[in-house]
Amino acid sequence: MLEKSFDNRGKENYHRGPAARLLAKATTELAAAGVEDARLDAEILLAHACQCSRAELLCGAHDIDEEARERFEAMIGRRRRREPVAYILGYKEFYSLEIRVAPSVLIPRPETESVVSAALELIGNRPGLRLCDIGTGSGAIALAIAANLPTAKITATDISSEALLIARDNAARLRVLSRVDFRLADCWEPLDNVEPIGTFDLIVSNPPYVQDNEIELLAPEIRCYEPRLALSGGFDGLKFYRRIATQLRQYIHKGGFVVLEIGAAQATAVSEIMIAAGAVGVNLKSDLAGLPRVVVAAF
Ligand SMILES: C[S@@+](CC[C@H](N)C(=O)[O-])C[C@H]1O[C@@H](n2cnc3c(N)ncnc32)[C@H](O)[C@@H]1O
Repeated sequence: MLEKSFDNRGKENYHRGPAARLLAKATTELAAAGVEDARLDAEILLAHACQCSRAELLCGAHDIDEEARERFEAMIGRRRRREPVAYILGYKEFYSLEIRVAPSVLIPRPETESVVSAALELIGNRPGLRLCDIGTGSGAIALAIAANLPTAKITATDISSEALLIARDNAARLRVLSRVDFRLADCWEPLDNVEPIGTFDLIVSNPPYVQDNEIELLAPEIRCYEPRLALSGGFDGLKFYRRIATQLRQYIHKGGFVVLEIGAAQATAVSEIMIAAGAVGVNLKSDLAGLPRVVVAAF
């Protein structure tokens, strides 16, 4: 039987059988807990619990046995406590790659895909380029570039050894581990051994850029679950751009580029930091809403 239900934005949904009842109940619970896309999240989690696609689930083509029902209820409990869907599933799609995530890494965001596109546009097909991703987290940026640029030599750093474990695991699953050198480092400062991290044609980074006093204003999914280390950009959110800039000239080849994700209000400040660090030109890339979210600096 086809059943009709409504999501928390009043949109009608038609589903069949037991899925309809489970989804309607879960949607109501998630909406009451303040989850924005309650219906969508419930569908994604039920499909995951049933190990099928959302399409199969929604046309009633999949059985929901007792085990799947229990898995789903446990996941809905976690989502009601505002744990992000990506941590519950254990992965997030980024630049068409499945990236494993855990609470020690930031969940890769769609806007960060613009950093990858900008980097790939800049370097084209030039073979043997050396590239560095500072604050690699799950490895999202470095791995998306590695997957699309088979000849690039990539160094990816992070101050979190737990994040580097996840990033290495992602690199191995995506079969690019031999092309990415993961290094424990505090910005430019290696923490794993005495070897310097190298010099590069392209440096990319999505550093922590949230102002410290704004972290508590973020959604619970972010402030309660994502690593502080990945968010905190100091009192004005610019701490890491300044740190990256300090020794930049030592690490970037002449004719090279730096591509940085920025907060929507940081374009002027970060451009000035790059110019003061010796950039000969700065360009901004905007997101779909027209807000500048990527700074490209030429050296
Ligand atoms: C905003 S997250 C970006 C993660 C990933 N690149 C992405 O775009 O999804 C920033 C990353 O910088 C790392 N980080 C924070 N402080 C650092 C430091 N001093 N040196 C190197 N990495 C740092 C954090 O551990 C975190 O993984």
